[in-house]
Amino acid sequence: MHTLAFDVYATLINTYGMVDLLQRYIGDDQAVPFATLWRDKQLEYSFRRSMMNRYEPFYTCTADSLQFCIEKFDVKLTRDQQFSLIKRYQSLPVFKDVLPALATLSGRSDIQMFALTNGPLEDVEKLFDGDGILSYFKDIISADEIRKYKPDPAVYQHFLERSGASAETSWLISGNSFDVIGARSFGMQGIWIKRNLDQQYDPWGPKPTHMIQSMGQLESLF
Ligand code: 2OP
Repeated sequence: MHTLAFDVYATLINTYGMVDLLQRYIGDDQAVPFATLWRDKQLEYSFRRSMMNRYEPFYTCTADSLQFCIEKFDVKLTRDQQFSLIKRYQSLPVFKDVLPALATLSGRSDIQMFALTNGPLEDVEKLFDGDGILSYFKDIISADEIRKYKPDPAVYQHFLERSGASAETSWLISGNSFDVIGARSFGMQGIWIKRNLDQQYDPWGPKPTHMIQSMGQLESLF
């Protein structure tokens, strides 16, 4: 049995899915750089909180990093606009290659699929439900359950305990290189999805077991 652990944000779910709102609020030029910094800072805040033993749920990191970006870009966003951006984060779209790949993989009796995410269960459940992919997953395993964030090895260990799988037969699938390196360093297999040419793998640490450009390439790996 192959156990697949899908990362969520920037792997299944497109974290640029709010750019249309940002274009309206702050203009075409700033929208993508704003969204990029928002995501980078969100991750940085989660890592720092985890290291400091000052855990706060992922949505707090999302809200705090939004405030950082508003100050950094020196833009005025009304409370309603900020609310709409946060709300959009709770209903971000899946990447186009996700649904067909999950449908194909779910037909394989030698594969079981989980989500392994830094996002809290309620948020991810709502996201998956809205995007029509909830039923493909045996379970959603959240870092929130142990109040530490990936790539802390404790989160990957928690995954093994919750899923009952072994590290050697567990595959972390992620668009985030920090996550692939974290899982590989822990002892799991790791697949990096590089959908865009400008995505870069960190120049240190373990390499992914496989690199793919689209979820459609997953099935042939097992
Ligand atoms: C996740 O979904 C933060 O992308 C990361 O866990």
